[in-house]
Amino acid sequence: MKVLVTGGAGYIGRHTVQALLEQGHKPVILDSLVYGHRDFLTSANCPYYIGSISDHALLRRVFREHQFDGVMHFSAFAYVAESVRRPDVYYRNNLMGTIELLDQCVEHGVKTFVFSSTCATYGLAQTPTMAENHPQNPVNPYGRSKWMVEQVLKDYEIAFGLKHVILRYFNAAGAHPDGHIGEDHSPETHLIPLVLYTAMGKLPEIQVFGTDYDTPDGTCIRDYIHVCDLADAHILGLHYSIRHNKSVVANLGNGSGHSVRQVIECCQQVTGKSIPARETGRRPGDPPVLVARSDYARTELGWAPQYSSLRTIVEHAYRWHLGRHA
Ligand SMILES: NC(=O)c1ccc[n+]([C@@H]2O[C@H](COP(=O)([O-])OP(=O)(O)OC[C@H]3O[C@@H](n4cnc5c(N)ncnc54)[C@H](O)[C@@H]3O)[C@@H](O)[C@H]2O)c1
Repeated sequence: MKVLVTGGAGYIGRHTVQALLEQGHKPVILDSLVYGHRDFLTSANCPYYIGSISDHALLRRVFREHQFDGVMHFSAFAYVAESVRRPDVYYRNNLMGTIELLDQCVEHGVKTFVFSSTCATYGLAQTPTMAENHPQNPVNPYGRSKWMVEQVLKDYEIAFGLKHVILRYFNAAGAHPDGHIGEDHSPETHLIPLVLYTAMGKLPEIQVFGTDYDTPDGTCIRDYIHVCDLADAHILGLHYSIRHNKSVVANLGNGSGHSVRQVIECCQQVTGKSIPARETGRRPGDPPVLVARSDYARTELGWAPQYSSLRTIVEHAYRWHLGRHA
């Protein structure tokens, strides 16, 4: 398959480019490099374009130069707190930019659009584990921008026949097992890299937000899913949608959660370092538990995560960070 990968110089997009290449497909990357990495482009053995999905002329050129079987759309801004301060920027990039891209897909006869959605579209969890039919009440502009794109995709299918694969990720983590690509957000807000940076002496301490939640050890529980398992799900989803001429909405998570304390403990074991932690109060809006039910992706798409153990996720992440920040 020939696949346009927007945001392919970012974390999850670049791992998916790798998986596409490893499985014999033909990715083409489009990334503005606002948050992506130039070396992620040059190390990928595929064509790439540097620019924004909001650049109409560039988009037209990309779609004229290639006939895509599908588009995988990772490019977005994804900082929740920033989205509260600058909803204009988030709706422009995440919603309006996506509509530009969708219009090109329709104009050029692309069959399926694979979209990076998020558990943030659910808002506050009403049940300990969330299936795809959990009510969607996003609580910040980032989550709402993703929810809005989901609605646009459903309308584009009805009006123009463009199929979609909406993948709602839980907490992406880990790195490619060979250590050549991995997570490198700036600023970094995700727990596992922050704990590993603390172990590596790049941060003085890790802050634990809230120790009085109604969870076994009092800290928040999240569902960590290996980035290579996420990448595989995108390819399975695209195949499935094209083969069955059908749209799909699927959660992607491991179905089991780990607390903040368990993550710190696991990072201590993997790195062999003592990791100073400072316990502080709860952050507003942090739900105690967010764990996916991913039965649909497993049964319908045949998705079988390879790296579901937290220890493996942390080992792969640590290998990458040691190489990146040596
Ligand atoms: N990381 C997670 O845990 C997580 C969880 C749920 C959903 N997601 C979603 O997955 C996607 C990828 O996340 P990530 O962690 O890889 O983020 P990332 O920031 O590493 O990658 C996003 C990439 O998109 C690019 N980009 C942003 N706006 C662009 C534009 N207008 N045109 C072209 N390129 C643009 C950035 O330069 C970056 O390379 C995002 O849509 C995010 O909302 C991520």
